[in-house]
This record gives sequence, C-alpha cells and structure tokens, in this order.
Amino acid sequence: MKLSQMARSIAPSPTLRLNEQARLLRERGEPVIHLGVGEPKNKAPRAAIERASALLEGGYVKYGPTAGQPALREAIAGYTETFYGRRIAPENTIVSASAKQSIYNALVSVVNPGDEVIILAPYWVSYPEMVRLVYGVPVIVPLRDAAFEPQIAAVEAAVSDATRAIIVNSPNNPSGAVYSSAFVAALVDLAERHDLYLIMDDIYHQLVFDGSEAPSAYRFTQRDVDDSTIIVINGISKSYGMTGFRIGWAVAARQVVEVMTAIQGQIITCPSPLTQAAAEGALTGSQEIVEDLRRTMQANRDAMLDELHAIPGVRVTRPAGTFYCLPDFSAYNPSSEALSDMLLHKALVVTVPGKAFGAEGHLRLSFSGNREDLIEGIRRIKWALDPSGPNEIYIGDHKIVRD
Ligand SMILES: Cc1ncc(COP(=O)(O)O)c(C=O)c1O
Repeated sequence: MKLSQMARSIAPSPTLRLNEQARLLRERGEPVIHLGVGEPKNKAPRAAIERASALLEGGYVKYGPTAGQPALREAIAGYTETFYGRRIAPENTIVSASAKQSIYNALVSVVNPGDEVIILAPYWVSYPEMVRLVYGVPVIVPLRDAAFEPQIAAVEAAVSDATRAIIVNSPNNPSGAVYSSAFVAALVDLAERHDLYLIMDDIYHQLVFDGSEAPSAYRFTQRDVDDSTIIVINGISKSYGMTGFRIGWAVAARQVVEVMTAIQGQIITCPSPLTQAAAEGALTGSQEIVEDLRRTMQANRDAMLDELHAIPGVRVTRPAGTFYCLPDFSAYNPSSEALSDMLLHKALVVTVPGKAFGAEGHLRLSFSGNREDLIEGIRRIKWALDPSGPNEIYIGDHKIVRD
C-alpha cells in the first residue's frame, strides 16, 4: 500500500490502544481495572440533555453555521467573561467537534510547513503528532524535575528563528500540575516578545483542587484579544464530563478565527447542532455538576495518593488539578512501557507509560473512575511490585499469579 510519508510517521494514540487492549481482556472475562482512561463517570448535566432532546424532538437537525451556533458562541463569550474576566465578542470564538479538533485547527491555521512548535514535557500525547500532521516540527522542552513545571529559561532556549507557537496545558495532562502565575506570566511575556502564538489548552481549568485556581494567560497581557496571539482551547469533555458529545472551542483574535472557520468549513462544514445544543445547555444551566465533579476528583486524588504512598520507592507529586497523577516508578523499572505491560498482564491494571508523555520512568494513573476501583488498582500494583508478598492473589474467583 502506498501511504503518505507523513501519515506513516504518525503514531496511534497509546491511550486509545490501551483502551482497546483492556476491552479485549474484559471481553475474555478478565477483571481488568482501567487506570488509563481520562473520563469522569458522571451523567451529562440535565440542562444539556433537555436542550438536545428538545432539538431532537423537533426533528429538524440540519447544517448550521461553520463557526458554531450563535447561541453557543454567545454562551462561550459569557463563559470567557465569567472565568477569564475578559469581554470578547462571539466572533472571537469558534466551536469544533472536540477540543482535539480545535487544537488541530489552530495549528493548521498558524503553522507553516517546517515551522517549529514548542511543547513542554510532560505533554499530552497528541501534541507532537498534531504538529507533525500540519508538517510542523515539534520541539520538546524536556522534563526537568518532579515539580513538573518547566523553567522559563529552558523554554526561551528552545526558541529559534523557526519557532511559530508554544502549546501549553495547565492544569496538565499527564502530571496534574497547575503552572504558577509567575510561569504563565513569563510565557505570555516570552510569546509577545518573540511574536509567537501561545496556544493555551485550558480543558481542565475548572478541575483544580484545594481552593486554588489555574492562572489564565489573559491575566498577563495588556493586549486586546484581537491584537493577541493567545489562543485559548476549551471544551465540555472534562469539566462537564461530556466526552461523548465531542464539542470543544477556541477563543482567539477575529483574524485567526476567520481562518480557522474557513478551514473547518472545508473539513466538517459545522459541528453537530445537536451536541452544540447540549453544550449550550451545559454552559448556561446549573453549574453544580462541575463543582460536584471537582469535589469527587479531589477525593479520588486523595484516595489514590494514600494508596501510592504505601508503595515503597515510588515518588509521587501531588496533583493540583485534572484527574491524573504521574508517579515515578523508575526504582522498579526504568522502562515505563515494560512496567505498564507487566502490570497489565500480571495485575490486570491498565496504566499509561510515561514515555508517551515525555516522562520516561513514570506511569500516568487516572483517578477519574470509581474510587473502589482505583484503590483496588493501586493495591494490585503494590502486590505486583512486592517480591515479598504472596505469589498469587484472588480477584473474586479469578486467580492471578505474579511469576
Ligand atoms: C490536554 C487535553 N487536551 C484536549 C483533550 C481533548 O478533549 P476533547 O475530548 O474535547 O477532544 C484532552 C483529552 O484527553 C486532553 O487531555
């Protein structure tokens, strides 16, 4: 088969591959615990269901405007004012069929072939591949230490004449770190000095713990949104737990939005008006669900940390947000892929190798699932790593053997 060189260079998402492995094991009746998946267990907010149901009931679901339904773009402008203290126009927003698509659309709109895009480790697995998809060159700022916040000097050192953009994700998948105000302010300053796009993936910005806040890039710029190179990405997948609705958005200068709209029109015409109606319901309805989710995730984090602290030699940095934790297991195995593989086959626990996120020696563990499951999952990991423990354990009537 003749495939394009670029297509052949793209790695499949390791998390989606692990989902598939877990599904196959479950199908065989194996009691798999999935600590790989980033998806809360909640039901969609009532207002979201009602809005979408009303539209569906009317039976009239047709193409809509390419940049999104006017009511949802208004709602996003309202959301931006509420959470970012920025008044923007609906024309500064574009809705896409997921935040993932919003990021891709932003990249394809601002990156020329051969342009460099700076990515900070640990990074979300899709960023380097998306940069490659637009014929850009990902430039990784390597992991520095367990605090998981890069040094601004390292970011500055990565800037070259070919740099076009920086992608930043805070609260961060996979580490759960929330970057400090000082760091975000320094990033904005750096981007403005070098005239770089600053793509802020804020998808987890409402999922922060212990009364803290995720500092927004807008706080540190004097520029109006239309003169700014900041592009904010957001969506309903994480804060509202509406992963299956596939709605995300970008907020940017009108000129950037216009280009993104032209491109989107050629690819999907428009995101589904049905799920846009649900997204509008989520943004304008009761926000209690977000707070409930945040509280649940904080309690899950605490439960996971308690269990992880009981494993000797594992170094854990307390996540300040998201629903991920990135403990350092290098004392057990420097290869995160080998360790993750062993844990899947011996302990029937799905973890994601840190290598995929630029964090070799670490495993990404999600605490978005049931609390009992995550406690059981970490206990199984502890058992699998403890040579002095029993050689076999029973999960229900299912026996698993270490060696
Ligand atoms: C950092 C980050 N950005 C974006 C996304 C994608 O969100 P969506 O479901 O809207 O595509 C994810 C999902 O895992 C994510 O972790």
